[in-house]
Amino acid sequence: MLPANQVEETIVAPAASAVIRVEEVHKYYDLGETRVHALRGVSVAVGRGEFVAIMGASGSGKSTFMNMLGCLDRPSSGRYLLEGMDVSQHDKRALAFIRNQKIGFVFQGFNLLARTTALENTELPTLYAKIDKVERQKRAAEALAMVGLADRAHHFPSQMSGGQQQRVAVARALVNRPSILLADEPTGNLDSRTSVEIMEILQNLNDKGLTIVLVTHELDIAQFAKRVLVFRDGKIRKDDVAVNRPIAREILKTLPTIDD
Ligand SMILES: Nc1ncnc2c1ncn2[C@@H]1O[C@H](COP(=O)(O)OP(=O)(O)OP(=O)(O)O)[C@@H](O)[C@H]1O
Ligand SMILES: [Mg+2]
Repeated sequence: MLPANQVEETIVAPAASAVIRVEEVHKYYDLGETRVHALRGVSVAVGRGEFVAIMGASGSGKSTFMNMLGCLDRPSSGRYLLEGMDVSQHDKRALAFIRNQKIGFVFQGFNLLARTTALENTELPTLYAKIDKVERQKRAAEALAMVGLADRAHHFPSQMSGGQQQRVAVARALVNRPSILLADEPTGNLDSRTSVEIMEILQNLNDKGLTIVLVTHELDIAQFAKRVLVFRDGKIRKDDVAVNRPIAREILKTLPTIDD
């Protein structure tokens, strides 16, 4: 027979090995008289190195779910374990701390500061981390290089294409070396070739081990992920492993190029 501590380890191991573990989560939004039941019993686990796409109709709860994963909001009931730690009951300050350490966000609008260079935009999240200026700039430069923008470090957003701006946003999301990258409609404002270029970057990052969860309305984009969840009416209705996943780098060779 195993000693008690080993038994316990065996039992908790699956929860600890998932980067994301969501158990029977409900989310209500209270609006005075009315109450919106946005998540209605969601349970899912995402392991390290997974690449998950979330699809579903407008209003099905995708952003509500992402906001919880990103520690921007808490579930009304149920549990959310991030790297094995239950963060469901954390207050705003504790959530902000975890968010800054563990989560990188990319949104549909690139949300870059206009009068700030690519390098400075990328550096912003490191201002809260306890690292010195030299190290901050080094990390920002590395993150820009990861998205292929080393040569645009001193450009302002207005001097870059939409795709390049979104790549800066990806670099900014990576600069604190997060455990998960969350992207809510990251290609929503981009043309089709540029969208595939962003997916190429996400696939490259995922190949290096980064866990990614992405929301998209487009099947063409979702298929670049390794797993697809479909939300409907606040629940996960489908959870499929992607088959014949296209490689964005290969697809790009077949698409016409648009000059910068
Ligand atoms: N802050 C909020 N306050 C009240 N209700 C909200 C809030 N955010 C979302 N909701 C409601 O919760 C439900 C789920 O919304 P959510 O934004 O998660 O949908 P979604 O799947 O992201 O949709 P979309 O594809 O349009 O972005 C909707 O009925 C929405 O109206
Ligand atoms: Mg949404």
